Order: sequence, then C-alpha cells, then structure tokens
Amino acid sequence: MSLLDKIDRQNTPKHIAIIMDGNGRWAKKQGHMRLYGHNFGVESVRNVLKAAKELNLKHLTLYAFSTENWNRPKEEVDGLMDLLVKTISGELPKLHENKVRLRAIGDIEGLPEACRNELQEAMEQTKNYENLDLILALNYSSRWEIKNAVKKIAKEVKDGIYTENEITDDLISDHLTTKGISDPELLIRTSGEHRISNFLLWQIAYCELHFTPVLWPDFTQEDLYKAVLDYQSRERRFGMVSEQITKSL
Ligand code: FPP
Repeated sequence: MSLLDKIDRQNTPKHIAIIMDGNGRWAKKQGHMRLYGHNFGVESVRNVLKAAKELNLKHLTLYAFSTENWNRPKEEVDGLMDLLVKTISGELPKLHENKVRLRAIGDIEGLPEACRNELQEAMEQTKNYENLDLILALNYSSRWEIKNAVKKIAKEVKDGIYTENEITDDLISDHLTTKGISDPELLIRTSGEHRISNFLLWQIAYCELHFTPVLWPDFTQEDLYKAVLDYQSRERRFGMVSEQITKSL
C-alpha cells in the first residue's frame, strides 16, 4: 500500500517548498563528480512533480540555485546552468501535457543569457496553465528579496503613494517576488541538514518544517507523501492555544 492512501485529502498543503540538498554528497558516495549528483537530482524533480499531481498541489517551489551558489567552482556553476537549460527545454512537453505553469523567483536578470532565454520562453508558453505552479528559485536569496522590497516600499512612501502607517503584512508580501502566491504550508529539506539557508524567510512564518536524511537524488514520491503525513500529524496553532483550534473546526 502506498503512503498516498494514508493521506487525508481534505488537509493537504496547497504549497510545498523544497530545499533540494545532498546532490554533491550523493555523487561523492558513488565515486563521481558533483555534477553527476545534480543530473540525478532531475529525476527526483520528476518524482515530486508526479506526487504533486496526485496530491492536487497548487504550488511547488524548488530552491534550484541560490545567490550564494555562484561561489562554487566555475565548472560546477557552468554545469548547473547547462543542466537547467537542458532540463527546462527537455521537460517542456511534460509541462504542456500536465498543464503546469513554470514560474521563477529570484534575480533572473543575473542568470546567463541562454538560461534566462530558455526560462522566459517556457514561462511564456505555460503562463495560462492552472493545474500547478512549478516555481523555480533561481539566483534567489531571501535577504536579497526582502532588501529589494524594503527599497521599493521606502520609495513609494517617499513618493506619497501611501504612508508608513499603511504598511501591512499584505503590502510587504505584495512587494516580494512571490507576490500573488500563497505562503508554503510545508517546507522540506533533504540531506539531514537543519537549516533554512536564506530561503523564503518571510513566507515561512507559519510553515511546518520537515527535515529528512534522504539525499536529494534518492528522494522519491513516497518520501514526499511521508513529509505530507508528517505535516498532517502536526497541530497548526498560528499562535493560538490548542482548544481554540479544536473549537473552530
Ligand atoms: C544542492 O545539493 C543542490 C543544488 C544546489 C542544485 C539543485 C539542482 C537540481 C536538482 C537540478 C536541476 C533542477 C531543476 C528544478 C531544473 P548540493 O550540491 O549542495 O549537495 P551537497 O550538500 O551534498 O554538496
């Protein structure tokens, strides 16, 4: 029996975010270069997309390349960019078939031209699909995103568009790259690390965190279902007490 059968379909997260970690260690364990692990990581992306379809997920955000990742050896960075181009163009027919909209968050202008073009073309072709948003965090960091939002808000206050007293949580959310996308209810990090690594810091205020020792290239559909079952075993209190939650059900 698949773990999928144990999932309560009335209480599934609508947005799952994943820090895909452990590709390098996975490759090293097999005696290969790090890029070998990234290549296998693409199969895990396919696995989570299949699981997302089964769960009727609305948004899946994958941390594919952080602003800090530029500090990796040039060979690895170039390889990752090539892999992104190859994967986006290779998977495009599947995105069409499943009516998946590709979106991106991060400093897209800072990506190499080939990668930016491939991404923009795929986003344009899929922009009207509504089954699932596949959101790639590329050249992304949360502090970069928050800093930009603060700059924009400061300018808009200066220009008299609104006053500082009118700055609300919603207004801040609307100035982030995730504007219009509901916050994730579940964040998964693979590879046994227990860190957030500058990912969606504002958006995960009330998110449930699931850490698994599984290295990303080994991550299966069942691992995603396991994370959802873990999520369903939690009581989400949003700062209230347990009795208030039970009463409002
Ligand atoms: C982290 O593992 C993984 C990455 C920085 C890249 C993830 C990219 C992919 C899976 C390929 C393309 C994906 C898409 C969505 C098109 P790591 O290298 O930090 O592993 P380590 O911690 O073991 O060194």
